[in-house]
Amino acid sequence: MSNDFEKAKASAAKEAIKYIGGSKTIGIGTGSTVGILLKEIRGGNFLDKVFVPSSLETALILSSYGLSVANPISVKKLDVYLDSADEVDQNMNMIKGGGAALTMEKILAHFSKKRIFIVDYSKLVKRLGEKTPLPIEVIPQFTSMVLEELREKGYKAAVRTMSKAKYGPVISDLGGLIVDVTLPKEKELTEVEKELKSIPGIVETGLFLNMVDMLIVGWENKVEVLKSSFLY
Ligand code: A5P
Repeated sequence: MSNDFEKAKASAAKEAIKYIGGSKTIGIGTGSTVGILLKEIRGGNFLDKVFVPSSLETALILSSYGLSVANPISVKKLDVYLDSADEVDQNMNMIKGGGAALTMEKILAHFSKKRIFIVDYSKLVKRLGEKTPLPIEVIPQFTSMVLEELREKGYKAAVRTMSKAKYGPVISDLGGLIVDVTLPKEKELTEVEKELKSIPGIVETGLFLNMVDMLIVGWENKVEVLKSSFLY
């Protein structure tokens, strides 16, 4: 990742922590942008906050920074959710799950009063699926059946495998397999979401539709705070 992207992520992260304000319970996503955000949080005054992480990775970082980590079972609602995305389109719909944490991320985002996403400008796309496939989480025992049904419904899909450190499939913190699905150009996003969620064995998809309350985009030399639909 070039320095420009790192700078863009850092400026978006710096902006995001301004909006934490009086929030007490904070949901946190997963990934490299979130890693940068967590460094900003560490440098701020957030010791009185309770953080609910979307992954073991994020939990470990939070805890190594001396911040309070809560299990979601002890929380009824989150005040704010902070995360990044793999792709964001012009309607602020997103693909998430590059880091395999999509299920917990989507649940935490759903149960948050306010959802803030931060991205560097490389994540902005005209059409979702331009640069990355859509990750879905699948119950391992049913992978063959799910893959077959996806094929029958016209989807191209492949089990995500580790590139190093382990042979075989990527397994999420929840024990699911991650399958990467090519988004078909001819289908509406809502149709894809409905179709995928109707297949038993698919736990969750990385399509985040209408889930953004605030989008912060970091550029090389500026930060944009977008609160509603936008064009670029
Ligand atoms: C984690 O599963 C993902 O949803 C991440 O939010 C997304 O992949 C963005 O990650 P980076 O900040 O590493 O690009």
